[in-house]
Amino acid sequence: MDQTNTNEPEMMKLLEQARQAALQAYAPYSHFRVGAALLLANGEIVTGANVENVSFGLTICAERTALVKAVSQFGPEIRVEAVAVANLNEAASPPCGACRQVLAEFIKPDAPVIFPAAAGNRTMRFNELFPWAFEMKLK
Ligand code: THU
Repeated sequence: MDQTNTNEPEMMKLLEQARQAALQAYAPYSHFRVGAALLLANGEIVTGANVENVSFGLTICAERTALVKAVSQFGPEIRVEAVAVANLNEAASPPCGACRQVLAEFIKPDAPVIFPAAAGNRTMRFNELFPWAFEMKLK
């Protein structure tokens, strides 16, 4: 992405927080440990890790853990300004589709999202990563 609007040191700090968060993952089934860090418009950083469940479909991803924590802690007016995702498996892990839809609710459209890709970390703007969020407009 065009880097003009991205604060590189801030993104590196966010990525480090995501890595730290991944250490807390509960992933006994996949052994895939993911961490996410959200920078909020109020300046706070909120992190999350994936929490798996023996009934696999109940597993919660790191990104959604972080988002739910952020809303619970700071209220429904939060705005996400940047996202970092990391894993401890040296694998690619862009945010999954479900997490993108959930993030869409609270994120600024041009927020940078940094995540591990096939060849190193990649940064994309959220609206580039998820251009067609479901929205409900009642007539
Ligand atoms: N996972 C995340 O935490 N974030 C994603 O965006 C995709 C997948 C987790 C869920 C599960 O615990 C493990 O990674 C393997 O799918």
